[in-house]
Amino acid sequence: MDAFITAGGHVRAREVHDHDPDAAGPVEARNAQEGFRGKALKATVNDATIPQSRSARKDSVAMRDRKRLPAPAAFDALGAEYERAFAESAAHHASLQRMLELLAPHSRVLDVGSGTGRPTAQVLAEAGHEVLGVDVSPVMVELARRQVPDASFECADIRHVTLENSSFDAACVYFSLLQMSRNDQSELVRRLGHVVTRRGLLMIATVPLDVEGVDVEFMGQEVQVTSFAAAAFTELVIEAGFSLLWEENTLFTPSYPGAVPEPQLFLLGRRT
Ligand SMILES: C[S@@+](CC[C@H](N)C(=O)[O-])C[C@H]1O[C@@H](n2cnc3c(N)ncnc32)[C@H](O)[C@@H]1O
Repeated sequence: MDAFITAGGHVRAREVHDHDPDAAGPVEARNAQEGFRGKALKATVNDATIPQSRSARKDSVAMRDRKRLPAPAAFDALGAEYERAFAESAAHHASLQRMLELLAPHSRVLDVGSGTGRPTAQVLAEAGHEVLGVDVSPVMVELARRQVPDASFECADIRHVTLENSSFDAACVYFSLLQMSRNDQSELVRRLGHVVTRRGLLMIATVPLDVEGVDVEFMGQEVQVTSFAAAAFTELVIEAGFSLLWEENTLFTPSYPGAVPEPQLFLLGRRT
């Protein structure tokens, strides 16, 4: 079932997710082929060398099907561990401060792939904004609801959530596109161009690598990653109708055993 978010930011109906890829229908089966936040890669993929990879492998199809987790299951498995590993990201915190400087009081903010609710939803809600987080992982949503009671969270795949035009003053997307196909990522960014009000804000962050369907190990989970190089990703945001106000292209080393620096791109745009 598709979910529907009203102008007030509430989800009217939501999708029921099946975590067993073998038992999934067509949509869930497709989701099961799309994995996680891909970082720390160490491989040569499509003839392009990716720096600082960790364990990307061209496994056989059978091997991949056996080990790779769909996004909900992988993030269910990580839960609060993810938050601990990325808590010290200075660029993430700086990007939130940039937003706070620009948001009008009591703005409506959509947080796509809201994770544990920290730091994004928490920082925005504590500043008095009305935050709706949408995340496909039930475990993440449960944690977020507990940790940030002043925000609302719904468990749904953002690709199947109907969002009304001009229903939010701002949208945040922090590292939640990486398990979607390039088409789905592009489509979502374009949709956000309609969902935020005129002069509204988009804060979007990704791992800017020119990779498509690469299997990686991320915090002990086998996941699949798709992304864009920085220039192509920036172009996507501009084509969706946003003019760039701020960008940061940085390296961040998360805090977990074996972690290596990962590239991160943060873009803040205003709807023209
Ligand atoms: C790498 S985590 C980032 C969490 C949070 N945005 C942050 O930066 O702390 C990505 C999150 O996006 C969620 N996610 C992935 N694909 C999604 C989808 N199609 N719809 C909604 N959430 C999704 C995952 O469940 C996960 O919680």
